Amino acid sequence: MKIKISYDRISRFYDGFFFGVDWFVSKRRKEVLRQAKGVILKVGVGSGSSFKDYPLGKQIIAVDASREMLRLANKKNMVYGGNIELYQADAQNLPFKDETFDTIFTSMVFCTVRNPIRGLQELHRVLKKGGQLLMIEHVKSGNKVVGYMMDKINPLIKRFDNINRETENNLELAGFNVRLEKDLFFDVVKYLVASG
Ligand SMILES: C[S@@+](CC[C@H](N)C(=O)[O-])C[C@H]1O[C@@H](n2cnc3c(N)ncnc32)[C@H](O)[C@@H]1O
Repeated sequence: MKIKISYDRISRFYDGFFFGVDWFVSKRRKEVLRQAKGVILKVGVGSGSSFKDYPLGKQIIAVDASREMLRLANKKNMVYGGNIELYQADAQNLPFKDETFDTIFTSMVFCTVRNPIRGLQELHRVLKKGGQLLMIEHVKSGNKVVGYMMDKINPLIKRFDNINRETENNLELAGFNVRLEKDLFFDVVKYLVASG
């Protein structure tokens, strides 16, 4: 099943279900977003629970593959004091010209994009030279035993989430230079900064 259909279906439970994750990510997201400069693209905006963490006065364009998640995001956009443009779009095929954005931000998205290298190549294409990709993503653990367990469990849950993504490697394969890799939680949640 396509991931966007999965997210269309779970959208009404999403905020309740991911409350704890959102609480964990929110503090880090605020810190990360302070570094966001210029025109910002948020990929995989989800229900818009991140809007509260964006500094006001920024030009932000946000996309998601799921129409239902965007519907939720649209409601939150109305209470957010900024002005976020929302579009339904696939990270693997973005409707933007080359080198449009100064900053691209993702959080907990590249665990769901079907072809992560293709998606990252698209982000690379639309990011300006000298721009920054900022990511808070969960990835496959570097611990051999934990990583092995993640590979075994992944087929059971990949309809919604892939827990064994090797996002640091995928960034390099997509043409990015990884400038920073910071562990946020047990070698599984990472803050990654990459440039084109
Ligand atoms: C786990 S949620 C995370 C949402 C949000 N970033 C957050 O932190 O709450 C993943 C989101 O990515 C979206 N998504 C998955 N694959 C996508 C793709 N190829 N293009 C755009 N959005 C995608 C899903 O629809 C979903 O809203």
